[in-house]
Amino acid sequence: MAFDLSARLAERRAADLYRQRPLLESPQGPQVVVDGQPLLAFCNNDYLGLANHPDVVAAWRAGAERWGVGGGASHLVIGHSGPHHALELALAELTGRPRALLFSTGYMANLGAVTALVGQGDTVLQDRLNHASLLDAGLLSGARFSRYLHNDPVSLANRLEKATGNTLVVTDGVFSMDGDIADLPALAQAARAKGAWLMVDDAHGFGPLGANGAGIVEHYGLGIDDVPVLVGTLGKAFGTAGAFVAGSDDLIEAMVQFARPYIYTTSQPPALACATLKSLELLRSEHWRREHLGALIRQFRQGAEQIGLQLMDSFTPIQPILIGDAGRAVRLSQMLRERGLMVTAIRPPTVPAGSARLRVTLSAAHSETQVQLLLNALADCYPLLEPSNA
Ligand SMILES: Cc1ncc(COP(=O)(O)O)c(C=O)c1O
Repeated sequence: MAFDLSARLAERRAADLYRQRPLLESPQGPQVVVDGQPLLAFCNNDYLGLANHPDVVAAWRAGAERWGVGGGASHLVIGHSGPHHALELALAELTGRPRALLFSTGYMANLGAVTALVGQGDTVLQDRLNHASLLDAGLLSGARFSRYLHNDPVSLANRLEKATGNTLVVTDGVFSMDGDIADLPALAQAARAKGAWLMVDDAHGFGPLGANGAGIVEHYGLGIDDVPVLVGTLGKAFGTAGAFVAGSDDLIEAMVQFARPYIYTTSQPPALACATLKSLELLRSEHWRREHLGALIRQFRQGAEQIGLQLMDSFTPIQPILIGDAGRAVRLSQMLRERGLMVTAIRPPTVPAGSARLRVTLSAAHSETQVQLLLNALADCYPLLEPSNA
């Protein structure tokens, strides 16, 4: 039989890599109901606690009253409405770039940006640990595609020596499964020295990083010459959905002309853009969210180190606990679940083989008491985990 799907599924199950979708029966937040069970969750990307903020919900509702619920058409036909345009102006201002362009998802923004910029005869160089959407975009672009060692400007420089055609260097800002941040000043310097462009996907940096939440470029104080192509997503710290590419006027015009995932899709609902405009306002102005989040991150790291957990080199809200074996990671996640906590086990192929982990994410919506509950549960459960065979 040509499609032996049951064999493939059985193989995945046997390797402890089978994925299931937990059914969320409440809004996002620290306290959720999943598959009928109330749980304290540490696994969403709602870093600033805006996904269920009453003002954002109210802005969405008012937007729906004023603009209806559907985008209605693609941006180039008649789907580009007032709220989309206002949000693009606000995102350009946040990023300090001349313009920004709204996409329906981060996956599509990455696919659109990379494939609009490079093709056959060109080169795309990516960090080994980049998000799947960037790696897929590189493969689909038709450009020569090579991955440099994680966050290693020397490895990048070696590959730049062999690059041909227009060359795009692509990196996550905050690495989504590790929580560490890209060494952007060094990567930008290596790229500029060879006339290459640097594209940064700062999906997890907007909100938590930078004095005003403008992400990794604000954190490092880098301008448009260092990072000509900047991507952000709106489904994480912004608490809504969608994504954007920010850059020069020519870059955005090129996206409008050539980025197929921008051109051939219906615009996002305008009411969603109204909600994001509100969350953007909160993200910029409510500094206490970043400060509280920072305090929780320090609290978690200190407590986890005392328990002897293997943390990663991260000061961001992504605080993975490295376990190694996929089965052990799943069992630790299950033990926590039995104690009323939800922390997802992340396994290959999302992370390299042998580096399964619990991906703890913290949010400004968490309290210190809730973080302490997580630490207490980890202190109880971790020693019960059978040792690794490796
Ligand atoms: C680094 C990174 N880029 C892009 C995406 C895709 O964004 P979206 O969920 O909006 O498609 C994600 C996660 O979803 C991500 O972690």
